[in-house]
Amino acid sequence: MDYSAKFEPLDQLSAPCAVLGFHQKRKFTPAALALDEKLDGLLTKLLKRDDVEGKPGEILSIAHVPSGTIDRVILVGLGKKEELKPGAYRKALGAAAKALKDANVKQAASFLHEAEVEGRDASWNVRQFVEILEAALYRFSQLKSEDENPKPRLSKLHFMADGDDALAAARLAIAQGQAIAGGMNLAKDLANLPGNICTPAYLAEQAEKLGKRQKPKLKVNVLDEKELEKLGMGAFLSVSKGSEQPAKLIVLEYSGASSKNKPYVLIGKGVTFDAGGISIKPAANMDEMKYDMSGGAGVIGTLAAVAELELPLNVVGLVPASENLPSGSANKPGDIVKSLPGLTIEILNTDAEGRLLLCDVLAYAKRYEPEAVIDVATLTGACVVALGRHPSGLWSNNEDLAAALIRAGEESFDRVWRMPLWDEYQEQIKSNFADLANIGGPDGGSITAAAFLSRFAKDYPWAHVDIAGTAWKTGAEKGATGRPVPLLTQYLIDRAR
Ligand code: BES
Ligand code: MN
Ligand code: ZN
Repeated sequence: MDYSAKFEPLDQLSAPCAVLGFHQKRKFTPAALALDEKLDGLLTKLLKRDDVEGKPGEILSIAHVPSGTIDRVILVGLGKKEELKPGAYRKALGAAAKALKDANVKQAASFLHEAEVEGRDASWNVRQFVEILEAALYRFSQLKSEDENPKPRLSKLHFMADGDDALAAARLAIAQGQAIAGGMNLAKDLANLPGNICTPAYLAEQAEKLGKRQKPKLKVNVLDEKELEKLGMGAFLSVSKGSEQPAKLIVLEYSGASSKNKPYVLIGKGVTFDAGGISIKPAANMDEMKYDMSGGAGVIGTLAAVAELELPLNVVGLVPASENLPSGSANKPGDIVKSLPGLTIEILNTDAEGRLLLCDVLAYAKRYEPEAVIDVATLTGACVVALGRHPSGLWSNNEDLAAALIRAGEESFDRVWRMPLWDEYQEQIKSNFADLANIGGPDGGSITAAAFLSRFAKDYPWAHVDIAGTAWKTGAEKGATGRPVPLLTQYLIDRAR
């Protein structure tokens, strides 16, 4: 998709399709009002005829407009003018995107960003539409022999803005929206690919490909099992013992600033398939555990966005990639392994494998003398039970970092909700036989997982984001969401300011 920001007065606008907003009950935004006047009240008449009031997401698509210059009009309901919340606006944009796709036009001009959204500005509105439109146009058809849905014709969207400042702001918003959507699409592709294709080696190859595309800003290096063993990553390596596919640690280093600047380190869980190991999962929906590498995909997608935007920062991505399968050589309940910093871990449940991979890499991150470390992981089903699928879970040992992530989540609408990380939870992960156990019993499962990780992240500001409920949609729309690319990219955009 191609996007532009430009100025054309509505009465001179020549476009195959115009997208305009209106509020409840049938109160037009300025551009819609101007067009309605130009058309002698036709829009008002049609809305009344079809009894369309303007609830968020209501659409009236008018195929033939007797304006002479605009062929088609899509009117988008925005709800009550006094209380347009970001979530409702996004819902309206989603409906607008679908209507645009269905209208089968090649080009359109949008005025939807005129709407006044609570606490947001026109730039935010523009960026959200780019992201939501790209999500609506996303398709994962590479593994189907015939594509059921023909490619949408829409190829260009103009944001109509007035004045140099407004145009410049819209152009920046477009660039950010496209970079974030590009990172999300990459993350979605990787997470939607099945385990027999997206193996640790495949994930590493895709990261290397990205490195070649973004040369020389982005360097990608892949550590193999031999090197991981030399480093002493006994916890990480224990997970891949049950698999034919060797583990990989994918290292992406983006340099956008002087090497004196401390880097931000992003760590993403990259379990390309999680059968649970010897503590095997039930069969129902086990296929979905191909998305257990969504943290890793999110980190790769974020580095793609950061490189695209050329942010003046240094950012390191670390993706420990492995399968978790049962076999004669797999971890067994009761096995004790030694992590990189020397702490020994009793594996009471082989299905709690994410923390085994992450703990070694959290310890490894220390060598970067990081400004901050953020790990993102589909870590626990308990997080989905606790928070549902709207926010990701957030844990942090640093108030500033937690506040910055909460803000970035609100801004990008890829929201997080903070959970406790109190010492009391450490009691649950004590072991009679090793320094700590890899599970903490049924209570507060997402918290004890974070408590476990915190033992390996003492040397820097650290945050853990559990994306088990947010990286994937179940049901009819089953598939990857591209989260947490918006959250992480926004956090880094904010740091670059
Ligand atoms: N990858 C899963 C967590 C998960 C579950 C992600 C559902 C997305 C949806 C993780 O490796 C896991 O199996 N966690 C266990 C931990 C338990 C054994 C303490 C879980 O959540 O059941
Ligand atoms: Mn598991
Ligand atoms: Zn897992």
